[in-house]
Amino acid sequence: MELTKELQSDIEEVYEALWDGLFNADIEKYTSALDDNYRLIGTTGSEFFYSREEAVDFLKLTGEQLVGNIERRKSQVKIEKIENLILILEKFDAYVKTDNEWIFYSNVRVSTWMQQLSSGWKIVQQHFSVPDSKADEGQTIGLEKITKENIELRDAIKRRTIELENKNQELEVALAQLKATQTQLIHSEKMASLGELTAGIAHEIQNPLNFVNNFSEVNIELMEELDETVREAIGNRQQAIGNSPLVAELLTDIKQNLEKNNHHGKRADAIVKGMLQHSRTSGLIKEPADINKLADEYLRLAYQGLRAKDNSFNATLQREFDGSISDVNIIPQDIGRVILNIINNAFHAVDEKKKSGIEKFEPTVLVSTKKEAGNIIISIKDNGNGIPQKVIDKIFQPFFTTKPTGLGTGLGLSLSYDIIKAHGGEIKVKTVVGEGSEFIVALPADL
Ligand SMILES: Nc1ncnc2c1ncn2[C@@H]1O[C@H](COP(=O)(O)OP(=O)(O)OP(=O)(O)O)[C@@H](O)[C@H]1O
Ligand SMILES: [Mg+2]
Repeated sequence: MELTKELQSDIEEVYEALWDGLFNADIEKYTSALDDNYRLIGTTGSEFFYSREEAVDFLKLTGEQLVGNIERRKSQVKIEKIENLILILEKFDAYVKTDNEWIFYSNVRVSTWMQQLSSGWKIVQQHFSVPDSKADEGQTIGLEKITKENIELRDAIKRRTIELENKNQELEVALAQLKATQTQLIHSEKMASLGELTAGIAHEIQNPLNFVNNFSEVNIELMEELDETVREAIGNRQQAIGNSPLVAELLTDIKQNLEKNNHHGKRADAIVKGMLQHSRTSGLIKEPADINKLADEYLRLAYQGLRAKDNSFNATLQREFDGSISDVNIIPQDIGRVILNIINNAFHAVDEKKKSGIEKFEPTVLVSTKKEAGNIIISIKDNGNGIPQKVIDKIFQPFFTTKPTGLGTGLGLSLSYDIIKAHGGEIKVKTVVGEGSEFIVALPADL
């Protein structure tokens, strides 16, 4: 049997009757094209029908859903005769109607086997499939629309991602600020409790120390009396004691020791007094004061004080005072102490660097004032050796000092810290090892 034109048109008639019947929900029309042994494989995983009955049920359901809303477009059909069977291979674009608009739905491929029975050509088996939707991207108008939607979706996601990234950055900044505040809070808590502890200990030590100092003074006087008495006695009884100066020597040694006791006791007393200032409410009251004048006064005082102790000391003093600062309500004696402490430290730092023999080193201390965001800023900047990282966390602790024994008590900055805190301000330090340090005191301008 040849695939004649006549045969081909017979076949096409049956085949088209199937589609026509299906798309118009004309059950009789399409079932008339199906063989009793009709088998169907649909496009989804579960659509396997092993009997005509099951297949027709499925087609019926599909047909009812699709009626008037589906079209086969760009159909390409190939008919082949294999032995006594006919194979029809077709691919088409399925368009569906939604909201009165035809849109591309999918490419569909169909293979159909037919055989001739006494009643004519009948369809024995069909297999429907759809290609991977991604494979044909951009080839049809329908898909372009989906592609466009995809792009829009991607753009929206991109915008959202950028928004989220920005929010994230904001959160990170907020978190960093929070952490900084927390560290500061912990620091001031620690300082406050250290201050209290220091004052408490000082108070306890003060009493016995007074005894030690008072008795050592009384002892010195007693020793002098004893010394005289013994010397007289020795003079009168030279013979008995012989030439040995032992007693006189011993007396001198004991007297010297007592003087040392007294000297160091006085030092301890000074330390204790310093410690006690942590707890003291100075009793002084706030009054309007000219910060620039105060800073200038204490800069001079510090410089002269140091020169009096060590006339080899020299430093360039620089002042940058903001003349627009009006009087600030402070306890001038207290703020003066703070400025003095910090300037003394600065002088010490530049002096140390100078004495280390660095060539062409010009010791310089700059004291400046300015108004900034409701605060009065006093800055004391030196070009000394700076403060190493491992030291910086401790400098505000009472008794922390890197100065040789007897030279510093390590109370200067801890007291300054307390005073500034009591004024509602804060002290910050910036430093670069080898280059210098800057102590910045901020006081609320509306105190
Ligand atoms: N400008 C500075 N440059 C370098 N180090 C500094 C400076 N200021 C303070 N320091 C360091 O901080 C430590 C503590 O300073 P603080 O003023 O509290 O005590 P001190 O100066 O050692 O003793 P005191 O002030 O009681 O005589 C210093 O010993 C020093 O190590
Ligand atoms: Mg100091």
